[in-house]
Amino acid sequence: MLFGCIIATAQLIAARADFCHVQERGVIRRARPGANSIAGVRQICEATETINHGNAPMKFARTALLIAGSLALLAIALIYAGVFNVGADTPHWPLTYTTMNLIRARSIAVRARDVPAPQLDNPALIATGARHYAAMCVECHLAPDEKESDIRTGLYPQPPDLTRHRHANPEETFWIIKHGIKMSGMPAWGKTHEDPIIWGLVAFVQKLPELTPAEYKSLVMTDGHAGMPGSHDHDHAHPSGHSHRSNQPHTDKQ
Ligand code: HEC
Repeated sequence: MLFGCIIATAQLIAARADFCHVQERGVIRRARPGANSIAGVRQICEATETINHGNAPMKFARTALLIAGSLALLAIALIYAGVFNVGADTPHWPLTYTTMNLIRARSIAVRARDVPAPQLDNPALIATGARHYAAMCVECHLAPDEKESDIRTGLYPQPPDLTRHRHANPEETFWIIKHGIKMSGMPAWGKTHEDPIIWGLVAFVQKLPELTPAEYKSLVMTDGHAGMPGSHDHDHAHPSGHSHRSNQPHTDKQ
């Protein structure tokens, strides 16, 4: 049915083009035998030109509308035909990938502009971040002694290996950790964790690419908290002040 609509719209555009063409040729044909003088031919031509010029914006608007309508119908038809494969084991088309990356980069850059960063080289902040990282992030973002995980292998887009890759901008890193990224598997940790905890994670992931496996382990074990996956204490008796967000609504715009 949708394909039928698209074909009908295309036929309408083609028929209109034909009609104008025939009409134009008709004026020229009638003008030649009917006009006895050059002035007569010129008059007919000028009149045709005036009509054509007067209608130009209208014609353009109508054609643009028809093209936009046809494209919208085509998009709906493709969606209903199930052409887009949502399987995480099939990569995006290059154009989809580039467009999504651009949307993601611009969206984060604009929103992270007004986020003021605290002092990030504070050892206590880094140690807090290390424990939370080991408890909440390592399965997806790896550790110096952990080269792969089942969940990371299966995710698309694949979570970056944060032991090798450092996001250059701490304010953007904060925004990403707090708000997450739609349709990627990166959760919004701000729904359950206060800003100081998220800044701890930012401070830690800035350091992570420089850490050896031994340094990583000793940071994670600071204050006697092993912080291994699964041992994340959700009752939060951490002396370092690991506090979860209560269930109050999330109002700030950062
Ligand atoms: C379930 C998997 C998963 C978990 C758990 C997870 N992330 Fe992510 N994270 C992702 C994915 C996937 C991306 C990539 C999103 C994209 O490229 O659109 C990502 C992206 C990021 C980025 C952006 C990196 C960059 O340079 O673009 C940061 C920083 C990050 N995560 C930090 C964290 C931290 C800190 C935690 C733990 C509090 C965490 N993530 C937990 C899946 C996860």
